Amino acid sequence: MTPPSTAPMTPRDLFSRWEDQQAAYVAHRENRFQVMLDVLGLHRPDDPTVLDLACGPGSITDRVLSRFPRARAVAVDHDPVLAELARSVLESYEGRARVVEADLAHAGWSSALPAWSFDAVLTSTALHWLSPGQLLAVYTELARLLPPGSVLLNADHLRFGDGQPALRRMSAEHDTAVRKAAFAGGAATWEQWWALAAEHPRLAPLTLERERRFADRPPQPPAPLEFHLAALRTAGFTEVGTVWQYLDDHVVFARR
Ligand SMILES: C[S@@+](CC[C@H](N)C(=O)[O-])C[C@H]1O[C@@H](n2cnc3c(N)ncnc32)[C@H](O)[C@@H]1O
Repeated sequence: MTPPSTAPMTPRDLFSRWEDQQAAYVAHRENRFQVMLDVLGLHRPDDPTVLDLACGPGSITDRVLSRFPRARAVAVDHDPVLAELARSVLESYEGRARVVEADLAHAGWSSALPAWSFDAVLTSTALHWLSPGQLLAVYTELARLLPPGSVLLNADHLRFGDGQPALRRMSAEHDTAVRKAAFAGGAATWEQWWALAAEHPRLAPLTLERERRFADRPPQPPAPLEFHLAALRTAGFTEVGTVWQYLDDHVVFARR
């Protein structure tokens, strides 16, 4: 856990605080990333070209480019603050990382991407921000964008529904306990992290634009695992399944 500090935060410090903050909401986040990178390595061992969808500050891209020294990645997000932080964090990878701002909720978002042929799309803790209709549209746009044989990995809490009340209760209790322990250990909450970001001189000017872009985004109804699998098939993915699960946290796999 990163100790709190009174010194001005570097982008790497903020990134590190983001990682601790996100780990408070995702119990086995590092393990989940490791599975995603393992599957990526099994799919394309040497030099994968990756799309990091809804990248935040670049958590997936940072791990991909560090583990695969000849990989390259495009990191996409609609949030101007997180995209700017991703640019700072990923600049050490030089030409191997590109950061693009695009809104997944609007059809045609992929036209903002460079014309690379992607081997894989990786995304974490993000697609629950989309409505079921938007999610199907994103999967459909990805199916059009991706070459046959490429893969998609979506890591997220996929909440249990009314038919699985015991699993839903246990998942919720586990989430609460993990959050409590993480915050007691010094991790920032989501709100506290955003307060830190708002103090950073490079990010502060972008916070108003962030508010404007996300003003009309109500929380979405949970889309269960079955919805994702069906939506991926409907979108045109040929093989779908899960490669990891811990309570309601999943990594969904799809092959184009
Ligand atoms: C909880 S963060 C996860 C970020 C990162 N993948 C991680 O695991 O740390 C969710 C991300 O989804 C992004 N996001 C939400 N809605 C989006 C949209 N419509 N288009 C693009 N990005 C979006 C947010 O800006 C945020 O960066």
